[in-house]
Amino acid sequence: MAQESNELMDKLTALCKRRGFIFQSSEIYGGIGGFWDYGPLGVELKRNLKEAWWQDVVRRRDDVVGLDCSIIMNPKVWEASGHVNNFNDPMVDCKSCKARFRADKVFTVIVREQSDGGTNTLIDKGVEADDPNSALSEAIATANSDTRRRVLKSQGKLDQVVFRADRIPEGQIAKCPKCAGELTEARKFNMMFKSHAGAMEDSASIVYLRPETAQGIFCNYKNVLDTTRLRMPMGIAQIGKSFRNEINPRNYTFRSREFEQMEIEFFCHPSEADKWYEYWRDARYKWYVDLGLKSSKLHLRNHEPDELAHYARACADIEYEFPFGTSELEGVANRTDYDLTQHQKFSGKDMTYFDDQTKERYIPFVIEPSGGVDRGVLAFLCEAYTEDQAPDENGKMQTRTLMRFHPRLAPVKVAVFPLVKKEGMPEVAEKIYRDCQAAGLASFYDEKGAVGRRYRRQDEAGTPFCVTVDGQTLTDQTVTVRDRDSLNQDRIPADKVLAYVQEKLK
Ligand code: GAP
Repeated sequence: MAQESNELMDKLTALCKRRGFIFQSSEIYGGIGGFWDYGPLGVELKRNLKEAWWQDVVRRRDDVVGLDCSIIMNPKVWEASGHVNNFNDPMVDCKSCKARFRADKVFTVIVREQSDGGTNTLIDKGVEADDPNSALSEAIATANSDTRRRVLKSQGKLDQVVFRADRIPEGQIAKCPKCAGELTEARKFNMMFKSHAGAMEDSASIVYLRPETAQGIFCNYKNVLDTTRLRMPMGIAQIGKSFRNEINPRNYTFRSREFEQMEIEFFCHPSEADKWYEYWRDARYKWYVDLGLKSSKLHLRNHEPDELAHYARACADIEYEFPFGTSELEGVANRTDYDLTQHQKFSGKDMTYFDDQTKERYIPFVIEPSGGVDRGVLAFLCEAYTEDQAPDENGKMQTRTLMRFHPRLAPVKVAVFPLVKKEGMPEVAEKIYRDCQAAGLASFYDEKGAVGRRYRRQDEAGTPFCVTVDGQTLTDQTVTVRDRDSLNQDRIPADKVLAYVQEKLK
């Protein structure tokens, strides 16, 4: 299973490089961990995802408006938000091989078998895993079932698992997963990238690259209220870059150091927060399903009460089954009035809302659906990757690789080909292509090579429709439109191609 998943990721990353979806950043210099570039097809896919989000959560709603904040903000923002003090990953170094790990990813699970004489046998395992729950379950599963088991230990986030499972929290032994060497104590490592604003590089000029877009929204919430007619409940949405100095960037673009977020802060009366939380959690889950992530691979995981951050009243993760494991795409949280209260405290500015109808003044609660653009793109790439059997131009069955993107997300919507490069076919094909292009459809014209090979190239790019001008076109002005997934070919009038594709894209 693990091998199959690795193979799938290998094939996908190879396709992404070969076809221009994703490249390593600064590849000619050997790359740089945690940074990625999107090629011509990738940037279209990413833009389409952001566009779909913006259309659905901003333009098609009356109660949400957009915002675009600066990446670098007054450093006090990050004191108020808690990032300066709390945005830390506990980190351990191996004293022998010098490898560095996130402490909550390298832990030793100790299963203690208690004997009558009071002596203990320790079975310890060094585990590096993305999911502490699965590593823990594995340790429990392999323990002797006759003995009273206690899974002890943990560092960082594992405590949650340990307490939830009612295990005895006790000492811990951690070893390097690479060489079994001794590890240092866990040390705090702040994940915000630092820089300096202005000519002086001293402590007074320190600034941070934002680790989330949310704080820019909180800081502007009063500006937005003052400049629009919005009343509670109302939301502010933003798409933008965020930066986190992840200790261990991994799984392709999944955990990057520079990435984009699409976040909504939805402000409401405290008494309505539970209702809006459920609304956004379910709406955001459905959004991914509607865009093509199969619900069998998509999970909505409600956090247990003891998993919640101290300021959150409820939280759910929208998770996707990636080939490398099930992980979070988007989190939806009821953040209460924590953020606005913090900013009121640190800035000294009034963050209350006055309802002129009820005459009530209050600090609104905030529901936050916070998604990652790059994780979304990766999930849609994984979901789209398909191999099937299809006949080639000689009728022989061949393995075909295709990207089954939802037409709304597909980087290229329509490709137009003349069957051969003569007899006036290129001219007719080029006119159809130009008409589609002028109408704003991402379109592609190709007259080179065998038509079967041209179809295959578009299948790999995920183009949903391929239009071919052939001999019949010259007599009856019809063309074929090939559907990427079913391989069905419709014959339609050449001057109806644009309307046909537009209809299918709706
Ligand atoms: N404002 C809340 C917030 O930032 P988060 O769970 O830390 O919450 C929200 O991040 C989303 O941002 C995640 O669900 C994920 O999709 C994306 N994200 C977070 N860290 C990321 C990283 N290192 N690389 C790629 N995407 C990341």
